[in-house]
Amino acid sequence: MTGAATSQTFRTAIVPAAGLGTRFLPATKAVPKELLPVVDTPGIELVAAEAAAAGAERLVIVTSPGKEAVVKYFETQPELEENLTAKGKDELLDKVRRGPALLAVETAIQEQALGLGHAVAQAEPNLKPDDEAVAVLLPDDLVLPTGVLERMSAVRAEFGGSVLCAFDIPKAEISPYGVFDVTDTDDEDVKRVHGMVEKPKPEDAPSTYAAAGRYLLDRAIFDALKRITPGSGGELQLTDAVALLITEGHPVHVVVHRGGRHDLGNPGGFLRAAVDFALETPEYGPSLRAWLTERIGTDRP
Ligand code: UTP
Repeated sequence: MTGAATSQTFRTAIVPAAGLGTRFLPATKAVPKELLPVVDTPGIELVAAEAAAAGAERLVIVTSPGKEAVVKYFETQPELEENLTAKGKDELLDKVRRGPALLAVETAIQEQALGLGHAVAQAEPNLKPDDEAVAVLLPDDLVLPTGVLERMSAVRAEFGGSVLCAFDIPKAEISPYGVFDVTDTDDEDVKRVHGMVEKPKPEDAPSTYAAAGRYLLDRAIFDALKRITPGSGGELQLTDAVALLITEGHPVHVVVHRGGRHDLGNPGGFLRAAVDFALETPEYGPSLRAWLTERIGTDRP
């Protein structure tokens, strides 16, 4: 399958970051969950880097009143940079400059957390006339290793329409997920989507392919978002708009990502990600590994 250089199908990525983050209360009373650091880097920088690596040039962050810090994070900080330069702290300087240098960041505001679909809809005024498709990345979903957006782009270049990302989950563990109803294509890792079932019992699941937080959506999604009504919890669901497009014959495919994933949206998943990333760093890895081994050993019956 071809990469971003030959099948680039989007220039704009949307990151919805206007949710309430209730699973992270009380911390999210004051700190947006998207800024909680995985070791030292906020999850939103990790997904911004993923979008930039996949060829995105603009990032529209959908945020809410009170969560402006999420966008501020991507602004340059000249005073801090001067301070670090004067002290010769080059490594820190690189880290501080990394986020703002990734891509051009813009803001869209979601006044009320009315769901993921509603959040994405708020980014429509930011689109350029030539944005025929947009990528949407959920900042609390780390899809590893990165690179799935490039593959999704290649699938749109081949089939048109919209492309989502799926993980192959054991049937017994499928219940917490949105599950795709699919048929095969010639490529084992690319399936045509006919529908989606939210949180099915294992026996009712139409497949073992569960949705992940990466979407490559045709611009038609914005029109579909205007034509759906609020679903579960009174929220406007992005998947309802995708389902509407499917009923109208719009091609939707999934790329099955054979890799790992971290859910940063809850403390348990976030801790796993932090430990996983920290174990890979020369600075913290060896001592963390030794400490964990001892700590877990102490817990043995
Ligand atoms: P989540 O459901 O994981 O985030 O949405 P949440 O609603 O903030 O978290 P909880 O359930 O209350 O703990 C996935 C992504 O979509 C954004 C969130 O900020 C998160 O990045 N989102 C969700 C919005 O931007 N607006 C919404 O109305 C809902």
